[in-house]
Amino acid sequence: MKNIIEIKNLSKKFVDGTEALSSVNLDIHDGEIIALLGPNGAGKTTLISAVCGITNMSSGSVKVAGFDVKKDYRKTRSIIGLVPQEIALQPFEKVIDVVRYTRNLFGFKNDDKYIEDILKRLLLWEKKDKRIVELSGGMKRRVIIAKALSHNPKILFLDEPTAGVDVDLRIDMWQLIKEIRAKGTTIILTTHYIEEAQEIADRISIINKGKILLTEKKTELIEKMGQKVISIELSEAINHTKYSDEFDIINDAESNQHVIHYNYLKSDKNFDRFITILKNDGHVINNIETKEKSLEEIFLDIVSK
Ligand SMILES: Nc1ncnc2c1ncn2[C@@H]1O[C@H](COP(=O)(O)OP(=O)(O)O)[C@@H](O)[C@H]1O
Ligand SMILES: [Mg+2]
Repeated sequence: MKNIIEIKNLSKKFVDGTEALSSVNLDIHDGEIIALLGPNGAGKTTLISAVCGITNMSSGSVKVAGFDVKKDYRKTRSIIGLVPQEIALQPFEKVIDVVRYTRNLFGFKNDDKYIEDILKRLLLWEKKDKRIVELSGGMKRRVIIAKALSHNPKILFLDEPTAGVDVDLRIDMWQLIKEIRAKGTTIILTTHYIEEAQEIADRISIINKGKILLTEKKTELIEKMGQKVISIELSEAINHTKYSDEFDIINDAESNQHVIHYNYLKSDKNFDRFITILKNDGHVINNIETKEKSLEEIFLDIVSK
């Protein structure tokens, strides 16, 4: 796995003493979608700003495609597209001009074919001569992404791309992000929506109070942390207390007496025996349901520790 970004012992202390990042280590793989997941104030925007060279780091180092972001700022910045958290567009400019202008800012010559491709891909080609004020909210977001892609970057940062966006538009954005990745662009997005990380990321890095708590493949994170609840429905009522000493049974007197909830940890050795004992006691199993922990539950577990 090739790393396209390498962040080593990155710390950032603002002049007022706020320690926004403390000793962050993170490798970003070429071609992946990684979500930086954390609550407000966790340090997500500061981390992006340091990688993009917008904020000076207090200590540590960041390499982008092998180049140091301080020493080779122009080089590294030209490889990166950034969709910032706070978005501002010139209201009376035309879509196509806004995108062309951004490309020129990075020192790249006009490339009408490339700009056309980008606008078509973002479903903006028909709107290319419209002024920004004439666009819907969703289209404006697409223009911001078109700007970020205007110089054909290898890496795209999206800082809270769907904050304050309605559900339809959010799903649209997810689709779009997946399409951009399919073209080979590495994507780093920040979010405080667990659902978003769960939906589109290959890997998830959980950040809280300036520290990375863990970075894992999404599937492994869910599996590793994942405990399942197995609900077994029996044909007759069951005496829960008879089993709760020996097995990890969720005991609530309120629950349906025909159903027993078993807390299953990864590679549980007892489950098979539990079923055998139920059978030996004369119980007949009507149905079995399993429920995995959601990323939300996992996240709360990690952050509260
Ligand atoms: N320019 C600044 N001066 C002082 N503190 C700041 C500044 N920018 C951000 N912070 C603080 O740094 C911490 C991390 O902020 P930020 O990176 O914006 O978090 P996030 O993007 O995860 O919400 C917060 O405590 C925030 O208040
Ligand atoms: Mg932020």
